[in-house]
Parts: sequence; C-alpha cells; structure tokens
Amino acid sequence: MQTPKHILAQNNVSPSLTSTINTVLNASKEIALLLQKGAMSGVLGSAEQENVQGETQKKLDVISNDLLKDMLSECPHVAGIASEEEDLPVPANADGEFLVIFDPLDGSSNIDINVTVGTIFSILPSNGNDASQEATYLQSGRNQVCAGYVLYGPSTLLVMTTGQGVDVFTLDPISKEFVLTEAQSKITPSTKEFAINMSNQRFWAEPIQNYVADMLQGEEGPLEKRYNMRWVAAMVADVHRIINRGGIFMYPWDKREPNKPGKLRLMYEGNPMAMLVEQAGGIASNSEMNILDIQPELIHQRVPVILGSKHEVEVALSYYN
Ligand code: F6P
Ligand code: MN
Repeated sequence: MQTPKHILAQNNVSPSLTSTINTVLNASKEIALLLQKGAMSGVLGSAEQENVQGETQKKLDVISNDLLKDMLSECPHVAGIASEEEDLPVPANADGEFLVIFDPLDGSSNIDINVTVGTIFSILPSNGNDASQEATYLQSGRNQVCAGYVLYGPSTLLVMTTGQGVDVFTLDPISKEFVLTEAQSKITPSTKEFAINMSNQRFWAEPIQNYVADMLQGEEGPLEKRYNMRWVAAMVADVHRIINRGGIFMYPWDKREPNKPGKLRLMYEGNPMAMLVEQAGGIASNSEMNILDIQPELIHQRVPVILGSKHEVEVALSYYN
C-alpha cells in the first residue's frame, strides 16, 4: 500500500512541501465527509453571501473554503493562500515557503443534486515575498511545484503531480488514507469524445464554431470520425474523464461578457489542470499559447481553455491558424 507520503518521498519532494500537500489532503478528507453526509450535515442550500465573482455560494462552498483556509494557515510552511472564494490573498506564516491556491469546491451547482464535485489546488513558491500582496501570487503556471485535485464522486480520488508524472490515489473509507491506485497516468493522444457547453455555441469565436461544426458532422465531415459528447458541468469531473479515457475539454472565449475572456479562472482552475494534463502527455492551451506560459495579471483572471488528448487539441488549434 502506497500513500501520497511514500510517493512524494520516492520523488525526493521536500518535507516542507510534503507537509503542505498533506494539509490540503487532510482538509479534503473533512470535505469528503461533509459531502457524504449530504442533507444530514445541514450544509446544503445557498448561503446568504455571494462570492467575489457575484455567484451565489452554496453553504458547502463556504465551509470548504474555511476548512482549507484555517488548516493551511496553521501549517508553518504556508506563506499565504488565494482562493476562488476570497476577494484578496490571505497571508499566513511569514517564514512559509509556499503559496497554496485553490478552488475549494469546483462544480458547486452539482452539490445539491448529489453529483461529482472537487477541490482543485495549485502550489507555488513564495520566494520570500510578501504573501499579503497579490503580485506575489502572479506567477506563471510553470512555477507550480504541485498541482492536483480531489474528486468527490462514488469514490474520493486524489489526482496529483509534483512535476514527475500524474498519480491517482483512492481514499480508503476505512483507514482514511489515500492509497495509490494508478501510477503515472497518461492521456491517450487521440479521441472521439468532446466536452463543451453547447448552449453557448452562438457566443463562440469562429474557429471553435467551425471545429465543433466539423465534429458534429461525424464520419461524413472533414474530421472523418463519429464523436460523442459529455458534459458534467464540473470542470474537475470533465477533466478527470479525459485523464482516464482521453477526450477534449473546451471552455473557450465567448462574447457573453466582454470583460471575462472565458468562464474558468487561470489561477484556480486553468493552471493546475494544465500542469496535470501536460504531465499526463496532453496539451492545455488558451487558443493562443500554452496555459502554463501565461503571465497572470490578476489573481481572479479568467482564461479560455482547450485541453486534453494531444492530437485532438492540435486539430482544434489548427482552426485558429
Ligand atoms: O467553476 C466553474 C464551473 O463550475 C466549472 O467547474 C464548469 O466546467 C463550468 O463552471 C460549468 O459551466 P456551465 O454552467 O456553463 O455549464
Ligand atoms: Mn470552479
């Protein structure tokens, strides 16, 4: 039986990073427990607050955010945290080496219907900079020392990378330990599956309109394949499917809200998923460049996302040329 600690030690990950990752995992186990209790834990339904993006928060979003924030603030290696649910970065320990960035509960519209949600996390070095300042966090995804997600589905899974491939762990409900269940997961390079919110079609840019139109033509169209479509409406679940069985996931730029280039957030969703996908042999692009090479300008910045199976993402990107 191999736990994340064993694998991190094998990969020569420092004790301070290991302890930071462990703190995230301990918080995720508490979140898993609350989700399993469902309506019995009295945490479903909307909280009165709206989050910084103006969306109504579910109570469990708030609770998950607070759990992660409180537990990470107690970890001596954490200099500061940034959360999708917090307006501003939260400084923690002046001597901490790491910044932990997270989406505490991705896909939160799924909570009340008992469908998969997840915690997405990304860890950056603090480089001794002031963790109360947004600028300290504005590092490209290439600087990530760890990225991962915990998927709360029929089983609770941890999918994680420290830059040495992607490993998958399953939470044993008896021992409460994550146990390695798939080492060095790889995304198949070709696919016939795509994930996109088709209801936004009329708002997309022309290249994505053309690409999806060609996919819909199946074997009679220029792509000469019959595609299947899947959409869970939780990025964490849609990306997990792709890591398991290939596919292409897109939340492209659209013209609904001109000040928001895409729905997903670069720091909390784009960067960690891009690192995982790249470490598993896939590609993650914003249609112009690799997501990991984007220099962030704002902590809550949005990003168009096209990621997944290498060959298929290359086909999608060829429509932009
Ligand atoms: O975090 C935003 C998010 O919930 C993602 O997890 C998901 O991919 C997307 O929004 C779903 O968007 P839509 O409501 O357009 O289906
Ligand atoms: Mn999210």
